[in-house]
Formats: sequence, structure tokens, C-alpha cells
Amino acid sequence: MTHEMIPVFDLERAVAAIRSELDRRWSRLLTDRRFVGGDEVQTFERDFSRFLEVSESVGVANGTDALMVALRALGLEPGDEVIVPAFTFIATAASVSWLGGRPVLADVEAGTLNLDPEQVEAKIRDRTVGVIGVHLYGRPFEVDAIRALCDTHDLWLIEDAAQAHGARFDGRRVGSFGDVATWSFYPSKNLGCFGDGGAISGNNGELLERARRLANHGRSRHYFHREVGINSRLDSLQAAVLNCRLPGLEEDNARRREIAARYRSRLDHFDELSFLEDDARAEPVYHQLTIRLDARDALRGHLKERGIGSTVHYPHGLHQQPAFEGLDLEPADYPVATRAAADVLCLPMFPELTTGEVDRVCDAIAEFFSGHRTANALRASPVHAK
Ligand SMILES: Cc1ncc(COP(=O)(O)O)c(C=O)c1O
Repeated sequence: MTHEMIPVFDLERAVAAIRSELDRRWSRLLTDRRFVGGDEVQTFERDFSRFLEVSESVGVANGTDALMVALRALGLEPGDEVIVPAFTFIATAASVSWLGGRPVLADVEAGTLNLDPEQVEAKIRDRTVGVIGVHLYGRPFEVDAIRALCDTHDLWLIEDAAQAHGARFDGRRVGSFGDVATWSFYPSKNLGCFGDGGAISGNNGELLERARRLANHGRSRHYFHREVGINSRLDSLQAAVLNCRLPGLEEDNARRREIAARYRSRLDHFDELSFLEDDARAEPVYHQLTIRLDARDALRGHLKERGIGSTVHYPHGLHQQPAFEGLDLEPADYPVATRAAADVLCLPMFPELTTGEVDRVCDAIAEFFSGHRTANALRASPVHAK
């Protein structure tokens, strides 16, 4: 029997789920022609803020701009140091560099691969102005401990929540713990559009007003510019996609948790692999389902042969990126990130994934391990040592 491919993420099913409503919204936009700003953007900013239980959200062009605009709104100056995790997507740190600041990498915790408060504290110096924490793979970092550190040392905190739309920590949505939070709506995200999109959100009205101004040429009224800004606005066509998808996000995240639980129940007993730890106070949204194993690349090849997709987020820590060579980073200072880059593997994870498909992935992994064991046993057995 031949099987359908199982992609690591499936946009075809995501499009199908909202197709008819999106046709209606896009067709209305073609009639209204409010391609920049307008109702779709305003509706989304309002509903996303309600969803996050914060006072305000500002739509921007993507998650990288969200970080850069937030950094500017917080007053980042050239030479300022910002502490970021060593294991994340490059934008978390590149946004700081791009504005002339210096990202200072902190190694992550071995169990969670999220920011390690002790490592963060060790990196605080005279020029440190803030911390960017990342809720990696949709699993909240220790926001309370990091927030407390920031308060003690008079630093601001940005939550880079690009992978964590809807997650909670201690009952509260992530995105409300930092001075500000930044979001990406890249298509594969838990809340994704069908192009690029992003947002900045929080409860500090003054800061968000400045962010809104900076993202719109620094203007305070028509053709009057209070400061130098950029053009980074959430596109109306993308806002319409987000308006279709936001009402289903809670249910989608619940399904992701179900899928994560199924993977764990089927795979946890294998000594050859491990799952990441989740903080007991966290309600993750599993942007990725990540396992760790020494034979990562071999398992990836085995899955591929069986038509099963997988990805590696991320094959290099930020300290291993040529882009940051100028920062004089010592690999020995980032043992956890270095190890993670060599052994993390992200399995298919999206809300429309069926339980039958999850089981097929698990069966393929079980088959891989039993093959490995047989091969090892044969190698070890004198009977076969001809
Ligand atoms: C943790 C993190 N930060 C920032 C970004 C940047 O978002 P975008 O791709 O929308 O610019 C991403 C997106 O991949 C991300 O995963």
C-alpha cells in the first residue's frame, strides 16, 4: 500500500480551512480598494489585542520589523547591549545589530532550550539596556524569573513571541509579561498569514503609540514627521487572512497540544530520544514538536525515505553564525546551544494533521530504532563475527 506524503507543515490544508471566507473578504477588498490600512487591519489589531488580553497591538510588515521597531521605540542607541538567547532564529539578534546595538548571547537551559536566568544574569554589564526572550517552539520561557531580573537591573524586556501565539504562563497569555511583545505571522506560524506579516503588542500605550508612529514614517499627522521612521505596515490582504484564522486559533492550539501528547505517549519510552521539558506553569502551543537524539540526521533520512517531512530548527546556534563573527563569541561558552544544534529534530506538527498520520510518523521512528538495535546486536554478536 502506498501512503500519501506527510509534510512537516501543510499550507494546502490551511488554505482550504478558510477558503470561502477569505474569498469573500478579498473580494470585498477589491471592491473597497483599501489596500493599506482600513477595516481589515483595524479589526485585526482590535481582535488580536482582545485575544492576547492586552490593551493594544500595532500591525507591521513582519516579525523582524516588529523587533526593530520595538527596539527603536524602547530607545535603543548604537553600542547598547541587549541579551538574547544563543539558540533562536537569527532575527532575534540581527534586529539588535541592524540598529547598531550589540547582541550579547546567553546560553539556554538544557531541559527547555529557553533562556537560562542564571546565564542572563551573568551577562548583565554596564551597557546592557534590555533582554529579548524567545518562547521557543511555542513553549513559554521563565517569564517571571527573567522579568524579575530585568526589574532588579532596570532593564526592559521584549518577548519575541513569533512562535507562541496563544500560549499561557501562570494562566496569563504570553505577550503581556514584557514591556512589549513582538509577533510574526509568517505562513507556518501558529497564527500565520499567506505572505509576511507581524505585530507589536502590549499594555504600555505610550510605547505602542511611538511604535505605531515609527512604523509609519515617524509621522504624527499627514506629512508631518516627528522623528525618522520606516514604512512597515501590516498589509490589508494579509490582515484579512488573519481575521479568518484568529477565531480558530484557540482550537488549533488545543489540537496541537493533543498531537504533542500523542507523540509523547507513543515515543517517550525510547531511550534513544528525549522530549523537551515544559514548565509546570506553562500552557505551550507547540509551534514545533521537537525531539532530541544523537542519530538525528540518520532518522531524518529514514523519515524522508518514507515520505515524512521533518525540519531542524536550528542547525546552528547564533554563536556559530558567520554573521556574528565580529562579536568574538567562544563556542565553549554555549555548550547547550551547540549540543541542541546537533540533536534537535522537529516532526510534522500542524492542527490539521490527523492522528493516523501522527501514528505513521511514530511507527516510522519505531522502525528506525528497531533497525538500529538489530544492526548493533548483529555487530556485537560473536556468532556473526565471521
Ligand atoms: C523567534 C523568531 N523571531 C523572529 C522571527 C522573524 O519573523 P519574520 O520572519 O516574520 O520576519 C521569527 C520568524 O521566523 C522567529 O521564529
